[in-house]
Amino acid sequence: MVTVVVGTQWGDEGKGKIIDTLAGQHDIVARYQGGANAGHTVVWNNQKFVFHLIPSGLLHHNVVGVLGNGVVLDPFSFFHEMTDLENRGIDFTNRLFIAENAHLTLPYHKILDQIEDNKRGKEKLGTTGRGIGTTYADKYGRIGVRVADFLNEEVFVKKLNIALELKNYLFQQYYRESTINVEQLVEEYSKYRKKFRELAIDVSAYLNDAIEHGKTILAEGAQGTFLDIDFGTYPYVTASNPISGGACTGLGISPKKITKIIGVAKAYTTRVGMGPFPTEIKDDLNEKLRTAGNEFGATTGRPRRCGWFDAVIVKYAAMLNGLDELIITKLDVLSGLKTIKVGVKYYYKGDEINKYPLDTNVFENVEVEYKAFQGWDENISSVSDFYHLPANAKKYIEKIEELVNTKITAISVGSSRDQIISR
Ligand code: IMP
Repeated sequence: MVTVVVGTQWGDEGKGKIIDTLAGQHDIVARYQGGANAGHTVVWNNQKFVFHLIPSGLLHHNVVGVLGNGVVLDPFSFFHEMTDLENRGIDFTNRLFIAENAHLTLPYHKILDQIEDNKRGKEKLGTTGRGIGTTYADKYGRIGVRVADFLNEEVFVKKLNIALELKNYLFQQYYRESTINVEQLVEEYSKYRKKFRELAIDVSAYLNDAIEHGKTILAEGAQGTFLDIDFGTYPYVTASNPISGGACTGLGISPKKITKIIGVAKAYTTRVGMGPFPTEIKDDLNEKLRTAGNEFGATTGRPRRCGWFDAVIVKYAAMLNGLDELIITKLDVLSGLKTIKVGVKYYYKGDEINKYPLDTNVFENVEVEYKAFQGWDENISSVSDFYHLPANAKKYIEKIEELVNTKITAISVGSSRDQIISR
């Protein structure tokens, strides 16, 4: 059985907590795309854990974590994160694996990502600066370095020489930056080789064998549907496919093996970085929601832009991902608002458009029609049963369910594991 968990907005939907909750019922948690740009926050035993590369379900001691070939792996971040978690009592022995065909993010990818985004000036994307786009660009440009290449020092040197021939030319002649020395990089990274050798496997073969033996797998998507390189608000997107289809190419499992797809949406909307955001709130309430929801990037600490729930995009996400169900997070953050709005329809140049438009030029200029709902004052963070929610909160959930045409099966009302209402 393979269940995929995807974000249905612009990331930060609270997938970390949902994956942590679901991981207890699974044998394996597998990340299928993205890299150290992700930041999944999980609160456990009153301690806050932020996962960037390591699957967030690994707080459960009997769960195996896997990083698929679709992930871009930064050895430096990976080892820092692993060591930090080990120092906090998490044991990864025999339960963490990485795909031998995953691509590595190396120091030059990070430097180039930051330089390139700055060079874009006004048109900057606001990337996380973690070398994500530049690593994927090298992967598709066929000058990437894979885990398997790194394991063999001779191959690693050869591949680095090919990649750095071009990068160093750019650094020196164009960006006027210092160049990267191959020998130094090889020397610096050799300390990671032994550990990588222990962790590297053929993830596709491993997962297919696990499926054959009746094991349950939770495929963890990072970022969200509208940051998808193909279907998101291009170019204001990440460089991979967070949508459910990405789980097949990013883990090496057949679409026939996916049994369930769960979407996660925040009860409102947030976005970090640049790009269109039709339901963004332009008054003081933006700040109020940011404070109430602690909306600051888990990776970069940047303040997140806040807005109303956009039913048009989530409905599109439900179709695109083939959602079987939807989980709503952070409903508690909306407590105390007199009125809560939901974007239900778009207009472009006066004409109604009935779905999310793939043309970003259209999307950035749509007018949103809202439906307003009465809010509730009660603190709902300890409610554990749907029927005990305030009537207006129930109405809000039921309306969203109707608008996005997907069953809402759970509602999260706080960051702890037990603050979740199953329906
Ligand atoms: P990159 O993924 O670092 O290339 O950044 C591209 C865009 O995706 C930027 O707008 C980032 O803010 C956004 N982004 C990347 N990772 C995340 C995430 O985990 N949550 C929310 N936004 C993200």
